[in-house]
Amino acid sequence: MTWTISERAQKLTSSAIRDLLKVTERPEVISFAGGIPTPRSFPVDHMRAACDRVLSQDAHAALQYGPTEGYTPLRVWIADALSKHGTRIDPERVLITTGSQQGLDLLGKVLLDKGSSALVETPTYLGALQALKLSEPHFQPVPCDEEGPVLEGLAPLQLTAARMLYCIPNFQNPTGRRMTFARRCALLALAKAANFPIIEDDPYGALSYAGDEVPSIFSQDPEAVVYLGSFSKVLAPGLRVGYLVAPKALFPKLVQAKQAADLHTPSLNQRVIFEAVQGGFLDQHIPRIRALYAEQCRVMVDALQRELPEWVQYDTPEGGMFIWLRLPAGNDATPLLAHALQANVAFVPGATFFAEQPQTNTLRLSFSTPTPERMYEGARRLGGLIRQHCHPDERV
Ligand SMILES: Cc1ncc(COP(=O)(O)O)c(C=O)c1O
Repeated sequence: MTWTISERAQKLTSSAIRDLLKVTERPEVISFAGGIPTPRSFPVDHMRAACDRVLSQDAHAALQYGPTEGYTPLRVWIADALSKHGTRIDPERVLITTGSQQGLDLLGKVLLDKGSSALVETPTYLGALQALKLSEPHFQPVPCDEEGPVLEGLAPLQLTAARMLYCIPNFQNPTGRRMTFARRCALLALAKAANFPIIEDDPYGALSYAGDEVPSIFSQDPEAVVYLGSFSKVLAPGLRVGYLVAPKALFPKLVQAKQAADLHTPSLNQRVIFEAVQGGFLDQHIPRIRALYAEQCRVMVDALQRELPEWVQYDTPEGGMFIWLRLPAGNDATPLLAHALQANVAFVPGATFFAEQPQTNTLRLSFSTPTPERMYEGARRLGGLIRQHCHPDERV
């Protein structure tokens, strides 16, 4: 049998990070590659009790098919949580998704045609590029400064042709950057003027070390934004429960796309999440996770300050789990990774996070899981490799 693979599928590529994760599973490898939550943040006893309650009180429904839109009490809880930050959100606009990753897939299918223009940050989340790529859009990278995306650099035609702007305003994956409130408002104004929706992906918003939150773009105008949220970083990614909140005009199409994809997100998992969050558990739990990541970040930055040459640039994140390193122009982090793997240390070369024209002199470090000892040792090895294999001057 010769299998004819569709043109669309032929263009798919494997995620460089998922491939790298296979190597970094070896215990001797100090991995700054993953970007997964630390298991220390999982409230295991609390989740066990939530599972027990669901299975003893509501087993038949939990083990049965359910509505595509999701478990109503969870939708109501999410709408209430989001309403605290501004306009009252209608639970009818909340769609429970199988991770926020599924939200990206559904939005690509509903909003993009082959060749249609999708504005994306430079750089951006690799998983979003993968999900949207299935709809074969034309990615239009938007240059970014330290405040966030700068749409003003784009020609008016590039704005009016856009079908969406995808962005991650809080502690972005991969740069760790948080968009300022002024920039959020400026993006919204430009998007409304040019008539394209903003897709606001917000898995890390709760992970601000100081506990301060910048209002979401969505809270400023829920009619112009699709908001994606997730329980992956605040409870447990393995349950695969996320959500999106979409304007009325879009909602039925997203539901239909989800019907085709998986009928619904697992009934049991949705109920377990609801049991876990109702009653205010996250109000105590999130400060614990914030403290955990703040400490991981403090150690990582200290290790980098001690071990990296001063010509490697990075910003200290205010939340989340990533640090973005910039080597002088002309260096390439991909061959550096080959040397790093030989020295049993791993990171993700930055090139993989660019839709177009990769900046090869960048790399992403995740500090969520390693112990302090391994962070210091990993930074020492990385610093040595950078001194050995990279040049300190800019070469274009
Ligand atoms: C920016 C961003 N969006 C979405 C996701 C997917 O998360 P989920 O586990 O909710 O599917 C991730 C996962 O790391 C992410 O970094």
